[in-house]
Amino acid sequence: MTTASLQNKNVLITGANRGIGLAMAHAYAKAGARVLMMSRKMATLAQAAEAVRAAGGQTWHHELDLTDDASVRTAVEAAHAAHGPIDVLVNNAGLYFQQPFLEQDPAQGRMEMEVNYFGALRMVRAVLPRMLERKDGIIVNVSSVLGHVAYPTEANYSATKAALSIFSHALRGEVEPQGVRVVLFVPGHTSTERALELKLTHVPLQTPEEVADEAVHATLETPAMHVSGSGNRTFVFLSGLFPGWARNYMRKVAEDSFAPSASPASGEG
Ligand SMILES: NC(=O)c1ccc[n+]([C@@H]2O[C@H](COP(=O)([O-])OP(=O)(O)OC[C@H]3O[C@@H](n4cnc5c(N)ncnc54)[C@H](OP(=O)(O)O)[C@@H]3O)[C@@H](O)[C@H]2O)c1
Repeated sequence: MTTASLQNKNVLITGANRGIGLAMAHAYAKAGARVLMMSRKMATLAQAAEAVRAAGGQTWHHELDLTDDASVRTAVEAAHAAHGPIDVLVNNAGLYFQQPFLEQDPAQGRMEMEVNYFGALRMVRAVLPRMLERKDGIIVNVSSVLGHVAYPTEANYSATKAALSIFSHALRGEVEPQGVRVVLFVPGHTSTERALELKLTHVPLQTPEEVADEAVHATLETPAMHVSGSGNRTFVFLSGLFPGWARNYMRKVAEDSFAPSASPASGEG
């Protein structure tokens, strides 16, 4: 999308019923976009959409299960039928758990990959062809600082986000010459209800609203990758220069915030 404005653009956001996704729905709506909100749980999604409307935003919502090809196709086709082409796809939905690798149920680990990586790919497959036809569109993939700097006790989650990050860079190379931008958006620790359950300490913390405002800015301005929050940007930059220092820092954060003898933080994110 070449325009510098989101006015009346269709912005499809996955995982929009709570957390960062809901804050994004408010932020993109405030920027003038029509937000097409999707998640699995319809009751909370309808409430979330109502809250965006009550704040003056244009919104529409639809059920979506990212693990299901048919659900993804149905949701994207319904959005297109209701409002026309998707201008911006924000792949925000994600799951995360924290426990030592051997304590993670392998099925739960596969589900993290299924939602965070394959779910995003399903959305791209459903939305990209029309963007290419129109030679216009933006895909915003929400990764994580943990996809760039490995974090003990979230090894599998870190891997899902690293996969999404490198996918985004490769896809950009394919589609940018055809008019479609791919933005990798990289939040750090954000005070959503789910993230606060993990009790990470000593890391810079942003509110979902701060992260959402940066996402809107990145959608319009960022050519490739935006790390949210100046503290996180500095950390990711320094971790490239001093990987040993970053590794030790992450190990210390994990040790301080997670005792292996305590019950692992669980529940879907
Ligand atoms: N919070 C942080 O500290 C942080 C840091 C870095 C990156 N991130 C990333 O930011 C994104 C949002 O995080 P958050 O903290 O806001 O998470 P959250 O509050 O747990 O919300 C997760 C969202 O994902 C949706 N979702 C989960 N499984 C789904 C599925 N199978 N199909 C469709 N939607 C599904 C959920 O919808 P339902 O309620 O309907 O299941 C929910 O809307 C994630 O990708 C996360 O990895 C978060």
